[in-house]
Amino acid sequence: KPYVIGIDVGGTNTVIGIVDKRGQILRSGSIKTAVHAEVNDYLDDLSKLINEIVAETTTKDQIKGIGVGAPNGNYFSGSIEFAPNLRWKGIIPFARLLEEKVGIPVALTNDANAAAIGEMTYGAARGMKDFIVITLGTGVGSGIVVNGQLVYGHDGFAGELGHVIMRRNNGRLCGCGRTGCLETYASATGVARTAREYLELRPDMPSQLRSIPAETITSKDVFDAAMTGDEMAKEIFRFTGKILGEAFADFVAFSSPEAIILFGGLAKAGDLIMKPVQETMESNLLAIFKNKVKLLFSELKESDAAVLGASALGWEVK
Ligand code: BGC
Ligand code: NA
Ligand code: ZN
Repeated sequence: KPYVIGIDVGGTNTVIGIVDKRGQILRSGSIKTAVHAEVNDYLDDLSKLINEIVAETTTKDQIKGIGVGAPNGNYFSGSIEFAPNLRWKGIIPFARLLEEKVGIPVALTNDANAAAIGEMTYGAARGMKDFIVITLGTGVGSGIVVNGQLVYGHDGFAGELGHVIMRRNNGRLCGCGRTGCLETYASATGVARTAREYLELRPDMPSQLRSIPAETITSKDVFDAAMTGDEMAKEIFRFTGKILGEAFADFVAFSSPEAIILFGGLAKAGDLIMKPVQETMESNLLAIFKNKVKLLFSELKESDAAVLGASALGWEVK
């Protein structure tokens, strides 16, 4: 069978693509994720879209399988479990439910794992055997590759690095129910939280962010402000980059990666975030790791890496 389908389930949007053996996305489409309070309604919409783009390209019997990348996805069970950034609570047997609806075999993994597979196969990690992809989006996720293999761990959830605790005291409340997780600082929503904190705690500091109602500030607003030279906005990225750099210095000690690859919306901030990450990581690394770990940006169009990475799983289904 010549084709697979890759699906990237994001907190906001779900992107899907039909992919051929050379890794070309022949056709893609998307639906909104967050508008569906019930996973069943969402899956109805998703299967409709799948049927549409399959009909436009080929026929169902030409599709080998569907690969899905999802927050808190478990490769072993095919389920999404207790996702802090999705509306569907508890344990969702996602792969089985989708398979029942579309009649094509489905395999599922964590969204950041799918991104790591995408980078390894088509992107910045080509030829690398040891690297970590960090996804900076609504949440913070990671895919850890050791010796050319994605690390799944005993229960299939290895690599939840977004929930490593960076602040033991007065840490921010995380969607996972704990406090001080990396995700609460380094995600897109974390950056917006930092902006609100700065605006409140530094009333004397001028900033164009003050013209936006505090509750509606997004990481994009902070990015736009920083690009025009706004000091507070730049400071917010330095703060974010510093926490990431501290975290990375410790992640390096786990698996001695050749590179850490930044992926997702926030990575667009470029040097604004990369410089403080680099400096802080280097100054916090164990001596044995200093000046050895590359910090890279994803080379793939954001949605493509996740879709392509997920699609790779489609070839593995039985
Ligand atoms: C979840 C991860 C996911 C990440 C990015 C985190 O909150 O725990 O599983 O990879 O968000 O979506
Ligand atoms: Na992961
Ligand atoms: Zn957490």
